[in-house]
Amino acid sequence: MTQPTRKVAIVTGGSQGIGAGLVEAYRQQGWAVLANALSIAPSKEPDLLTVQGDVSDLATADEIMSQAMSRFGRVDTLINNAGVFMAKPFTDYTADDYALVTGVNLAGFFWLTQRAISQMLKQQGGHVVNVSASVALFTDSAEPTALTALTKGGLAAVTRSLAVEYASRGIRVNAVAPGIIQTPLHPAAAYTPQALAGKLPPWGRVGQVSDVVDGVLYLESAPQVTGEILHIDAGRTAGH
Ligand SMILES: NC(=O)c1ccc[n+]([C@@H]2O[C@H](COP(=O)([O-])OP(=O)(O)OC[C@H]3O[C@@H](n4cnc5c(N)ncnc54)[C@H](OP(=O)(O)O)[C@@H]3O)[C@@H](O)[C@H]2O)c1
Repeated sequence: MTQPTRKVAIVTGGSQGIGAGLVEAYRQQGWAVLANALSIAPSKEPDLLTVQGDVSDLATADEIMSQAMSRFGRVDTLINNAGVFMAKPFTDYTADDYALVTGVNLAGFFWLTQRAISQMLKQQGGHVVNVSASVALFTDSAEPTALTALTKGGLAAVTRSLAVEYASRGIRVNAVAPGIIQTPLHPAAAYTPQALAGKLPPWGRVGQVSDVVDGVLYLESAPQVTGEILHIDAGRTAGH
């Protein structure tokens, strides 16, 4: 077990993209990190533990919490970052699509957050950050995303609900709502100037992982902030 004073973060979806950026950023701040993903390499680093598994499965939530506690002894921050994106007309969604998107985006949040908050209550404090998305508020008729909106909107709603429920017990609950961020979530073709035409902010730069990391680190450092949905979309949501 590491020193009891070292803070501990759990990051789901930590193998690539935004999650990998968050894992690195928290480590650079001196935290110990448990990173989960469907597929993630083992770590020999003393401050990094990886747990492979499907976060929509309750057993994975139990495994993550049990490994975090036995290795690091506490959980200070949980970042519910694992997520999937699916764009298609509403009437085309299949039962498998529904199970996948609600499973990762909602059940993945639900079971692990329950367990992390139970531990944070024992520690008399903690922080949960949910990774929502601007599509929860902003819809583009050219790219219908109802199932993503349903689940990411649910995360935004539950962020406010849990922030109020646990404020008196020292647990903060916040969210970030990214716009278009360049990650492996979309194929490289999605980030060409042609594909991004009309979608970019006035200064014409697509969001980077570091933009989201900066937002999460701000929320981490802001003890007065809870129930906040921090939009990281260059004003895309505000302008509609
Ligand atoms: N990129 C954007 O434009 C954008 C915009 C708004 C919101 N977001 C949100 O930001 C978050 C991170 O997105 P990203 O762009 O970094 O995506 P990404 O590059 O596709 O990474 C997704 C991560 O989630 C993990 N994951 C997927 N399904 C999982 C499951 N069932 N159990 C455990 N881990 C699972 C993946 O693990 P494996 O690698 O093992 O599959 C990967 O580590 C997501 O919640 C996404 O909805 C992204």
